Amino acid sequence: MLGLFKKKKKELLVKLDMSRLPVHIGIIMDGNGRWAKKRGLPRSAGHRMGARVLEQITRDAGNLGIRYLTVYAFSTENWSRPANEVEELMKLLGEYLDDYKRLVGDEDIRIKIIGSPDGLSDDILRKIKVVEDATKNNSAITLNIALNYGGRDEIVHSVKKIAKDVKQGRISPEDIDEAILSSNMYTNYMPDPDFIIRPSGEKRLSNFLLWQSAYSEFWFSDINWPDFTRDDLIRAIVDYQNRSRRFGGV
Ligand code: FPP
Repeated sequence: MLGLFKKKKKELLVKLDMSRLPVHIGIIMDGNGRWAKKRGLPRSAGHRMGARVLEQITRDAGNLGIRYLTVYAFSTENWSRPANEVEELMKLLGEYLDDYKRLVGDEDIRIKIIGSPDGLSDDILRKIKVVEDATKNNSAITLNIALNYGGRDEIVHSVKKIAKDVKQGRISPEDIDEAILSSNMYTNYMPDPDFIIRPSGEKRLSNFLLWQSAYSEFWFSDINWPDFTRDDLIRAIVDYQNRSRRFGGV
């Protein structure tokens, strides 16, 4: 029985074409609340389990050779959740940042936070700086945590920066093109996501990487994020590799 199980795992890996891996994967870590409810636990328990799964999936993705992983941890809209849930999520994020050594360990993981600093506590902002500085020379995989992030908010932020450049005479309006917009996004140090994964049965983007996902491939599944495993990641990537990406061409 065990032999058969192992064989199945191997078969899954064999299906993966290591020469055509997505460079950048985005994940909307959805379904934490439902995972907890099913078990009669508070929603915060789902978020905690989700954070543990994120640690494992980051290592798995790094070991597979994925260069960038961007995860949606807290959106600009999540402030409208009940105050105690927001508080729990911020507490968890703070602990996660404090505990970054447990995630990174000896592995070559760089951690970056993308999103607006507005509304985040000084304590969280300080922790972000510590983690980003401490991991800045790591390069195998970059884990981008989207925190207080909204795709529309990011586009507005980018346009405001460009408007300032125009006002101060650094560029003229005619110079504005897609590359300039991209270079003013929070994600300006990485390629656009090739592949976006959303577990939990929902099939929408929810304001995640709006500008960057113009030609991303999507993968949806009914699994709740706290149940997501390395095998699910591999299955998703195999599915991605069976698609034909045309970027608007033929
Ligand atoms: C969506 O599930 C998930 C979130 C709003 C938070 C995601 C956060 C984590 C996975 C943990 C924290 C992350 C880090 C980096 C420490 P939901 O709550 O909307 O679930 P539901 O749709 O089942 O209610």
